[in-house]
Amino acid sequence: MPKTVTKFVCQSCGHESPRWVGKCPECNDWNSFQEEVQVHQKPSASAGRPATILPAHSGRPVPITQVAGQSEARFASGISELDRVLGGGIVPGALILVGGDPGIGKSTLMTQVAQRVNAHSSDAEQKTVLYISGEESATQIRLRSERLGAATDTFLVANETDVNIILHHIETCRPSLVVVDSIQTTYDSSLESAPGTVSQIRNCASAIARYAKSGGPPVFLIGHVTKEGSLAGPRVLEHMVDTVLYFEGDRNHSYRILRAVKNRFGSTDEIGIFEMKEAGLAEVENPSAVLLSERRADASGSAVTATMEGTRPLLIEIQALVARSFLTNPRRTATGVELNRVNMLLAVLEKRIGLRLGEQDVYVNVAGGVRLSEPATDLAVTMAIASNYRDQAIDPNCILLGEVGLGGEVRSVTQVEKRIREAARMGFTKAIIANHNAPRMSGIGVELIKVNNVLDAMQAVLLPANEK
Ligand code: TYD
Ligand code: MG
Repeated sequence: MPKTVTKFVCQSCGHESPRWVGKCPECNDWNSFQEEVQVHQKPSASAGRPATILPAHSGRPVPITQVAGQSEARFASGISELDRVLGGGIVPGALILVGGDPGIGKSTLMTQVAQRVNAHSSDAEQKTVLYISGEESATQIRLRSERLGAATDTFLVANETDVNIILHHIETCRPSLVVVDSIQTTYDSSLESAPGTVSQIRNCASAIARYAKSGGPPVFLIGHVTKEGSLAGPRVLEHMVDTVLYFEGDRNHSYRILRAVKNRFGSTDEIGIFEMKEAGLAEVENPSAVLLSERRADASGSAVTATMEGTRPLLIEIQALVARSFLTNPRRTATGVELNRVNMLLAVLEKRIGLRLGEQDVYVNVAGGVRLSEPATDLAVTMAIASNYRDQAIDPNCILLGEVGLGGEVRSVTQVEKRIREAARMGFTKAIIANHNAPRMSGIGVELIKVNNVLDAMQAVLLPANEK
């Protein structure tokens, strides 16, 4: 008789309790506990993986010098925006979680990866991709892959949700790459909980992880995101995988950003930019041009700055709208930039420059859905606000680079040369930088205007009102 154990598991964080509780003591979520029943069978049955896959030396400690190093060559997915985010390609045996809102393009991206991997394999080494879907029928996958040009004999599809059968398929097909779409639909039949519950997700992911780690192919797991924006169910899932990628973007816009939030094989600051088109996702090679393409350069409240996303400078537009408030507590809204930072910059403008922002609603927005995390963009945010408040446009040929301190002083930023070069490439002719920033560059056609404080910067960039 298999032994059954009943427990209650928080569906947000995976915290377990023997009783039902209304509020999770771990993550403070309300009403997140759900009953889950686990049937304990023979311990080996739950893994569901034949013992033969384990290499003979598995688990035995070895001298570090004998551990296989770089010999495990990464292979390119063929989509350079993705390869860069991954840190230079796919590592054998890696478990990569791709999260994102429904409809954002996760299945499309993975189908395109399959297409490129197939296209890049040589006759000597045929690379096959196994696409396992619990979301769509094989016919639907075929329709999509035909549209994307991925329908070839080396693209294998299976409509399956049982994790043990999935592992069996991987074992018999021996593909070069596996996609599981999605981890929320997979289930382990030895657990009684429904697919999508934390126990199921955790169990299935760890079974797949064990397989990948013991010499199996790299696996992409697709994961859904909840309304709150975190991966459905599991923080636990993020701990189990090597890399967590988020595919973000506004469904009303065609641009998509792929971002690594965890990466055991590379940095997490690289982003990949795509555009969703009729024939799938296209890589965006010149993101600065795209992000600035809809700018109304003559309008007040628009400032351009360069932010570093990993090794790449990216020009972005910051917009501010300052409007008379009819509320006791004027509204402050920030999209793409931290609200606390905006509040601080508003206080600097109020106290050091004397702008009466306390009676105004202030909205700050970063165009194109980019999120800023660097203080180097402070000066642009500050100038966008000042520009709209004064109703004087900012010189459209001018880029703003600087951190703003509490005293209203403008501070230097890192990698200023790279940022200015990108601005020059995009046709900007002036750069406002901090007095202390001394970029070693000449002859690139950008006039450097050095400022000490926010007031200097305002005098340098705000055009007279009648010129706007
Ligand atoms: P999909 O990859 O199914 O999203 P997810 O797997 O993240 O839920 O993509 C869904 C959207 O993408 C859908 O609204 C249609 C659009 N799309 C295109 O615009 N062009 C294409 O070539 C494809 C395949 C999809
Ligand atoms: Mg999908």
